[in-house]
Amino acid sequence: MQDLNFLLYAAPEHESCALAWQKQLSDLNVHTQIEWVDEINARFLRFHPELSLIVDENGLWLAANGMKMQPAWQAEMPRLKRANPKNELLARACQVNKVETILDATAGLGHDALLLAWLGARVTLLERHPVLFALLLSTLEQAKLDPGLADTAQRIKLLHIDAEHYLADIASEQYDVVYLDPMFPSRDANQKQDKKQAQVKKQMQLLHMLLPVDGVMDLGENLLKQARLKSSRVIVKRPKHAVFLADQMPQHQWHGDACRFDGYFKI
Ligand SMILES: C[S@@+](CC[C@H](N)C(=O)[O-])C[C@H]1O[C@@H](n2cnc3c(N)ncnc32)[C@H](O)[C@@H]1O
Repeated sequence: MQDLNFLLYAAPEHESCALAWQKQLSDLNVHTQIEWVDEINARFLRFHPELSLIVDENGLWLAANGMKMQPAWQAEMPRLKRANPKNELLARACQVNKVETILDATAGLGHDALLLAWLGARVTLLERHPVLFALLLSTLEQAKLDPGLADTAQRIKLLHIDAEHYLADIASEQYDVVYLDPMFPSRDANQKQDKKQAQVKKQMQLLHMLLPVDGVMDLGENLLKQARLKSSRVIVKRPKHAVFLADQMPQHQWHGDACRFDGYFKI
């Protein structure tokens, strides 16, 4: 991926954190120019609508169009507290109560991986986009300090790598399950939205501004073939009415209101 350039806004009181993030991002080929701002509030965000980064007491944020976002792991708490291996479709599809290790090869904001780790799996997350990887790293660091999430965070490992390269290099059956949730262009279209979904949609808008930097959106067609070579259980998340990933018919499906999970097994 080409080098990326961002403005990074931070208040002077967060200087050491901002400089540490600048170094970390530079190691990921994301170059930042820091602008010191006394107060980064809603008004400031409205007047600075360009895609940028922010560092504050809650770590690293992505900002654009008058909003800022970071993977919202703490906000997932109510769902996590209700979750069990039977009432969550993703958990059923991944058989989280029977398996130990899961590879989430398309990490994104890490919400799905968080649920799987919360329910006891050891989850390795792969994210190839350097800014998303940095946002996840920041969120994972915060989670390790949060008494409600610290145990779960210990079961999460995060790697900055393209899943195609990673899958090519690992041994067969290194992971009990490989989970794929590649981008889908018309995701969220035509969905009824409650307040939470509207919030998710805002996050997705920022994500979509970030992701197509290298041209056409990669829809992950190659990942399924590689994943099936390496694991006897591959689960793919799709919008409810989407075509099968790589046109491959799954052996089983779990249907939810907005999305479904397609299962591919070695027989
Ligand atoms: C739809 S999002 C995943 C959302 C995620 N399931 C969640 O719960 O937040 C897809 C993510 O996969 C990443 N991705 C797509 N192809 C990838 C690949 N080959 N290797 C690593 N990451 C990839 C994208 O950068 C994007 O962040």
